[in-house]
Amino acid sequence: MIQYFKIDYHRCMFKGSIAQIVKLPWDRMNPVDLAFLSTVTGREFADSLRAGAEHYKNDGKILQMISEELQTDNLVYRDYSKKGDHVDMLLHFFDELKLWSKVSESVKEAGIEYVKGMSALSGEEKMMCIISREKELPVIFTKIVDSHNWKDFGLGFYEKYLRDHIVWDGEEGGHADLVGHIDVDQKVLDSFWKLRLKMYEAVPLS
Ligand SMILES: [Fe+2]
Ligand SMILES: [Fe+2]
Repeated sequence: MIQYFKIDYHRCMFKGSIAQIVKLPWDRMNPVDLAFLSTVTGREFADSLRAGAEHYKNDGKILQMISEELQTDNLVYRDYSKKGDHVDMLLHFFDELKLWSKVSESVKEAGIEYVKGMSALSGEEKMMCIISREKELPVIFTKIVDSHNWKDFGLGFYEKYLRDHIVWDGEEGGHADLVGHIDVDQKVLDSFWKLRLKMYEAVPLS
């Protein structure tokens, strides 16, 4: 096992997968499909964090990150300001705006495959995937957020979700900094980001 900052990036498959994800034609993907995939990954993120958290009970930095991810009221949009996991905000608006029926079938399938892939990992491995996400997602989320005018599609809530995460994860002292000291296994990240790429590639293009 090696610490994230010691990874030799040139020999990492996962960096290649991330580069491919960043370059995907996000502007040709259906906005509701993209928001839906965040309900899938957001639910999985919270479940994985709960599964992995027990290994870090005495780690103040990890505990701070967890307190800003789970059962928190820091994600607010319009009349929504409930305490919950971040995904609960997405689920609230998916229900309210009746968006579930607008999701492409192939994207629902891709979500199921992604969850299946993640469920095969141990709690510790799931935690490694979270550590990596805290570091890598700001760039990916920036690409997604810039790809559409979300409010035109009535998806301002999703834009808020993305923008807040870009700040929380990427700011100085933010989540990426809080988790940077945790050991990660390069092979776990290689499979994780491949799985994530596969999921995004399943979104039909217009
Ligand atoms: Fe979050
Ligand atoms: Fe985060």
